Amino acid sequence: MTATIDEAPASSVPEIPSFEVTLKVRRYSPESAHGDEAYWDEFTVTAHGTDRVLDALHKIKWEHDGSVTFRRSCAHGICGSDAMRINGRNRLACKTLLKDVNPDKPIIVEPIKGLPVIKDLVVDMEPFFASYREIMPFLVTTGNQPSGERLQSAEQRERFDDTTKCILCAACTSSCPVFWTDGQYFGPAAIVNAHRFIFDSRDEGAEQRLEILNDKEGVWRCRTTFNCSEACPRGIEVTKAIQEVKRAMITRAF
Ligand code: SF4
Ligand code: FES
Repeated sequence: MTATIDEAPASSVPEIPSFEVTLKVRRYSPESAHGDEAYWDEFTVTAHGTDRVLDALHKIKWEHDGSVTFRRSCAHGICGSDAMRINGRNRLACKTLLKDVNPDKPIIVEPIKGLPVIKDLVVDMEPFFASYREIMPFLVTTGNQPSGERLQSAEQRERFDDTTKCILCAACTSSCPVFWTDGQYFGPAAIVNAHRFIFDSRDEGAEQRLEILNDKEGVWRCRTTFNCSEACPRGIEVTKAIQEVKRAMITRAF
C-alpha cells in the first residue's frame, strides 16, 4: 500500500529548532509622547535558523508593537527599500540572516545615516534621489532615429555590467563619511549610476555627466575609504567605479 503524507506519523516530521533573539531598535516618533527625542526599544521574539532580520522586524510589528515603522517591499534583495544599520553596518534587512549577526546578544537596528529620519527606521530618501536624478540616469542620444536596434558587442556590454546591478538602496551613500559630514556630496550611488551610462557605448551624454560630477560636490570629494564597496549588498565594486569616473574625467577616455 502506498503511504500518503496524511498517513505519515507525526513523530517523523522533524521539528525546526527555534531560538529567542532580542532586537534593540532605535525609535523616533515626533507624534508620540517622546516628541523629538530618539529612544531605544527592545523586543524579544522567537526565530528559526533561516529567519532574517526582516522576519524578526515583521514579528515585532505584527505581534508586539504595530507602531514600529520600517520600509520593505520585495523581501528578496531586489527593491532596495530596507537598507538599515544592523550592528553598526549598513545591510538589507531581508538579506541578513539572524544567525549571521550573533543572535546571542541584542541586535542593534538603526536607520541609515546622513538622511533625515522620518519615523523609526524610515528616512527621507529625497536628497538621495535628487542626486541620482542630477546625473541623468537615462540613455542620451543625438541625431536621427536609428533604423534598428542600437547594437553593442559583448565586450562593450561587459564594460559597465557591474554598475547595472544597482538597486538604489542607498547603503553605499549612507555609509560614506563625506556624505555624513556634508549632505551636498553627490555620493557613491549617484556616481555608480553615472558610470553605468558614461561607459555605455550607445550613450552620448558622457561629457555632460562628467561636467556635472566635476562639481565641488562631485567625484573629487571621494576619499576612497571603501565603506561604500563594503556596504553594497549587490557586491558592486563601488570605489572602483568612482575611480574609473575620476580617470575618465582626466583622460576623457570612456
Ligand atoms: S551601489 Fe550598491 S549600495 Fe549603492 S545604492 Fe547601488 S546597490 Fe545600493
Ligand atoms: S525588501 Fe526589497 S530589497 Fe529588501
